[in-house]
Amino acid sequence: MHGRGLVVGNWKMNGLVAFGQTLAEEVCAGVAERERAARLACDVVLCPPFTSLLAVGHSLRGSSIRLGGQNLSEQEKGSFTGEISAAMLRDVGCSHVIVGHSERRTLLGESDACIARKMVAALREGLRPIVCLGESLQERQAGHTLTVIQRQLSAILSPLPAEGEQRTNWTVAYEPVWAIGTGQHATNAQIQEVHAFIRGQLSDFLGAPIASRIQILYGGSVTPTHAATIFSLPDVDGGLIGGASLTAASFLAIMDAYPAPLSTAE
Ligand code: PGA
Repeated sequence: MHGRGLVVGNWKMNGLVAFGQTLAEEVCAGVAERERAARLACDVVLCPPFTSLLAVGHSLRGSSIRLGGQNLSEQEKGSFTGEISAAMLRDVGCSHVIVGHSERRTLLGESDACIARKMVAALREGLRPIVCLGESLQERQAGHTLTVIQRQLSAILSPLPAEGEQRTNWTVAYEPVWAIGTGQHATNAQIQEVHAFIRGQLSDFLGAPIASRIQILYGGSVTPTHAATIFSLPDVDGGLIGGASLTAASFLAIMDAYPAPLSTAE
């Protein structure tokens, strides 16, 4: 079953303000053209570096494209030099925020518990967290992939409130660490296995109706060449795109690869 998809561009630490504005304007023009032709089957979010958020937000005015941060502080405010709060992200126009990207888990030592607190901080402010999960190469080779995913997922599921909008106002991104920025994406069987496992865990914890509404994105070396196959997998609801989101043509081609919902498919 494919509903409306979600394609997120994670620019990471790339580009100055002028670059971001130009890229956002090109993506906007491409999205508007597709919307006029009623051929965009996914929502789109851009996550530029913090320093470009305001300018990129201006470039996105009047467009359906949403703005997201790449990280946030778990703290609300105060003496946390260099940190950015959920309210600050809202203030510059963000609706989304990436939480627990593997680069932050591995390079900056973010733990499952820290990521859970960040997710809660985002939800409390009405931001939609895009929470990243994924195993390392050693973990996959040791046959521990699903155990790792289960551990990372249970850390973020347990602090969810017992009821209310916050239970559904978030997105999961499965990003095998070994596939990020390496040009080596996971095979279709590997992707579908983990996505179905995540869906099952969400269903056990939140119930099937909610689990079916939470989007599960795949990320890790998605390019226009492979996007259509990856997006055709039953439990893949879109993509978190790094390198290929840095040029409008490849990012737009990835959006084009998202299948039209069955009801409107010709
Ligand atoms: P990549 O990055 O598409 O360059 O592999 C994806 C990500 O890290 O979100």
